[in-house]
Amino acid sequence: MSDADARLAQIAPSILTADFGRLAQQVRDADEGGADLWHLDVMDGHFVPPLSFGREVIAAVRATTPRFIEAHLMVARPGEQFVDMAHAGAQRLVFHYEAAGSAKAARDLARQAHDLGCEAGIAVNPETPIEALYPLLDALDQVVVMLIRPGWGGQQANLDLLDKVRALHARLDAAGLAMPIEVDGGVKAHNARTCAEAGATILVAGSAVFNVEQTPQQALAALREVLAR
Ligand code: DX5
Ligand code: ZN
Repeated sequence: MSDADARLAQIAPSILTADFGRLAQQVRDADEGGADLWHLDVMDGHFVPPLSFGREVIAAVRATTPRFIEAHLMVARPGEQFVDMAHAGAQRLVFHYEAAGSAKAARDLARQAHDLGCEAGIAVNPETPIEALYPLLDALDQVVVMLIRPGWGGQQANLDLLDKVRALHARLDAAGLAMPIEVDGGVKAHNARTCAEAGATILVAGSAVFNVEQTPQQALAALREVLAR
């Protein structure tokens, strides 16, 4: 990717490490800092060990921001959550390939998301080869490449996994398809540019935006700066 393209990468804050006691203010701060869209991490204690939050928190964020919201469903049975997520205000439903279990099931889930008027995104865990998604790309609106084992914010990204982003980027080009490629997990100011140059067009930023050292506005400005450099 060229320098100009890195500039266009979007930043999607995740609230996982935000201060939930003042969530609305945290969301407003990040919006003011230039958040492009919101990435809300739903965990069920099965697909991943922790529980996070569900439709009530999505609805609370929906009531606070005008920006696009995607729900990243780290849940074992994503289809069962689609209606609640859509009604709560999520505009893109991102489910895991590993939870779908097969290409056919993933296609069915994508159709269900579309039937609800939502976009369909699919996320892949580090151990899942990106090629598994190739037969499905025409049914999807986005791919999320996990740079960590899902379940926890604040982990370190495995940048070797950016090879999956590079391969997918080339595959989409060859197929004449265009969709966002998102990277999720451990994206920070020191690696954001590398992610964008690999072909990621959306960068999820959790602890990079919500941490004790900076305000969300300062953190987002720092991310923008490395992307614009
Ligand atoms: C992890 C989540 C990520 C995570 C991002 O399971 O899917 O979205 O919260 O947080 P950081 O940026 O801290 O890795
Ligand atoms: Zn996520």
